[in-house]
Amino acid sequence: MKTIVFGLPGNEALSQSLAAILKSETGAVTVRYFPDGESYVRILSDVRQKQVILVCTLHQPDAKLLPLYFLARTARELGAAHITLVAPYLAYMRQDKQFNEGEAVTARYFADLLSGLVDKLITIDPHLHRFRHMQELYTIPAIALHAAPLLANWLKKHVPQPLLIGPDEESLQWVKEVATLAEAPYLVLTKTRLGDREVQVTQPEMAAYQKHTPVLVDDIISTARTMIETVQHLKRLTPQSPVCIGVHAVFAAGAHEELLQAGAGTIITCNTIVHLSNGITTDRLLAEAILSQV
Ligand code: R5P
Repeated sequence: MKTIVFGLPGNEALSQSLAAILKSETGAVTVRYFPDGESYVRILSDVRQKQVILVCTLHQPDAKLLPLYFLARTARELGAAHITLVAPYLAYMRQDKQFNEGEAVTARYFADLLSGLVDKLITIDPHLHRFRHMQELYTIPAIALHAAPLLANWLKKHVPQPLLIGPDEESLQWVKEVATLAEAPYLVLTKTRLGDREVQVTQPEMAAYQKHTPVLVDDIISTARTMIETVQHLKRLTPQSPVCIGVHAVFAAGAHEELLQAGAGTIITCNTIVHLSNGITTDRLLAEAILSQV
C-alpha cells in the first residue's frame, strides 16, 4: 500500500523528514482560519487506497484538535485505506483520575476521541502513570515508543561522568532505563505537587557524587517547577552545573528562561515539540514505527 504523509501546521519539518526516510509522498493540505476563527481544511493530494500518516504533535492540544479532526474525516471520506496519527507528544495524559469530585478524567475522554478518529496512534513516552499501558485507554492500536536509548546516546556523547536524577517516583521508569543504557548511576527523588506551579522535591544525596555531573531526566518540562526545585537543591549540594533533559519541551510561557536563570547549565529536549532546546531527534524512531506496521 502506498503511504502519504501530511503535516498539520507546525509539523512540516517532521512530516517532510518522515516522508524522506519512508521514501513516500508528502501530502498537500491547506489549513487556515476564517476571520471568525473557524478552521478551513482542504486535502489537495490523492489519498484513495493509501496509508495516510497525519503528523500532529499535541502540545497545546485544544486548538490543534479540530483541524486534526477535520483532516482525518476528510481523508476518510476521500477514500484513505488506513489512517495513522503520529503525535510525538500526546496530551491529556496527566489527568488520569478524578482527584476531586466532579472532575473530568480527560485522559480517558481524549483517548476515546482519538480512538474514534484514526486507526492507529504512534507516540513517544506518553505520561503513563496510573494507567500503565496505552491499551487501557485507547481502543485502537496505540504504540508508545521510548526515547530512552536516544537520551542515553546523547549522554554518552556529551557528558563524561553523569549522575542521573529523576525528580519524582514517576520518572523512575525513564531514569532507570537511561541510566542502564548509559552505564551511569541514578537517584530518584520524591515530589509533592502543591499546585499547578508549586512543587516540593526532596534533596538528592550528593555526598558520593561530587565529581559527577548531575543530569535531571523527566518526560515533560511544563512550568519547569519540578526541575527548578531540583536545580536549586543541587546548587547547594554540588559544584557541578546540572544538565536538564526533558523528552517533551512543553515549556509554559517563561519556563525555559526561568530554568536557565535557576542554574541549569544545559537544557536538552527531544524534537517531539519544536523548541529551541531540541537537541535529540526522534525522526528515525518514528519512521521505524511507521514502517513496522506495513
Ligand atoms: C509529572 O509528574 C511529569 O512527569 C513531570 O514531572 C511534570 O509534568 C513536570 O511539570 P512541571 O515542569 O510543571 O513541574
